[in-house]
Amino acid sequence: MRFKKKNMENIQVSNYGVTAKGDSIQKYTLTNKNGMKVDVINFGGIITSLTAPDKNGKYEDVVLGFTKPDDYFNGNPYYFGALIGRYGNRIANAKFTLEGKTYDIEKNDVPNTLHGGKEGFHTKFWNIEPVKDAKSPTLKLTYTSADGEEGYPGKLTTTVLYTLTDDNALEISYEATTDKATVVNLTQHSYFNLSGNFSKTITDHELQIYADKFLPVNETLIPTGKEKAVQGSPFDFTTSKPIGKDINANDDQLKKGKGYDHNWVLNGSGMRSIAKVYHPESGREMEVLTDQPGVQFYSGNFLDGKFDTKSGGKNEFRTGFCLETQHFPDAPNQASFPSAELKPGEKYQTKTIYKFSVKK
Ligand code: BGC
Repeated sequence: MRFKKKNMENIQVSNYGVTAKGDSIQKYTLTNKNGMKVDVINFGGIITSLTAPDKNGKYEDVVLGFTKPDDYFNGNPYYFGALIGRYGNRIANAKFTLEGKTYDIEKNDVPNTLHGGKEGFHTKFWNIEPVKDAKSPTLKLTYTSADGEEGYPGKLTTTVLYTLTDDNALEISYEATTDKATVVNLTQHSYFNLSGNFSKTITDHELQIYADKFLPVNETLIPTGKEKAVQGSPFDFTTSKPIGKDINANDDQLKKGKGYDHNWVLNGSGMRSIAKVYHPESGREMEVLTDQPGVQFYSGNFLDGKFDTKSGGKNEFRTGFCLETQHFPDAPNQASFPSAELKPGEKYQTKTIYKFSVKK
């Protein structure tokens, strides 16, 4: 079905699959005037495909994903393309204390909680409506998380907008409100491979992150609480360099993460450019903009070749990378980190943009 109303002719909806619970899942395809396309499903708010042009103007899918709907529905072990909530990344020992009360959440990444728990937002049915009066094709996704869901306090009412603009940017706007004090840290977990060939590693991609500091972690990938200068270390991406340049350096933090799996403390504040990734062979470039204080740069170290990729071959080690904009991991337990608390009457509001272009 194609929506006929003004500004909605660029949104198509088709049947995607049926979950074990019996939910019928639709795929929404946003198309801009250049022919760039983004596919989103109402299971987990997952982006299953996103195309970007190469130096010859060829649009190819650049986000990792499964070949079968059931692989998203039955676990999605890598969180491919998903909306993450209530809390992106890890919370130490699966607990936190808020206003004097300790909340136990699920240890789905023993001994910690990862990405909201096993039944986090990436597994939920999101209501999707195309937005009628938007300037560019926009989907409005809503999900209400009950008080106590996955152990988190407060009923959290969440809205996410996905907008595809004519300058080849995917804008993601998040909003949430609560009826009890809680913590919230929403993000998007797309893995990118700008080559369009998902069986190739991403170590040849050149990355720049506008951050002078990062957060070292312990053995279970929880930040130690201290910020560390990147200068002179493998974590220095202040000038662009191939992801693979220092990834195998003899460095304790790289060993702990099995590569890069850390939060960078972004320079500046407010909406700003925070990272650029360039793939020399295809000419594709991606810029990331956000208003968040941190970004988790994850070099796909837990990809283990168990699934087929959409372009053939298997999803091997480091065949995708994520730049997850966020508040810092474990902020609910670390008083020195920017607070991730949300109180009744307040509005959680944040925005991230992934913008694609060609560099010749
Ligand atoms: C984390 C990784 C984790 C991955 C899950 C990333 O956000 O930092 O440690 O393995 O998500 O696929």
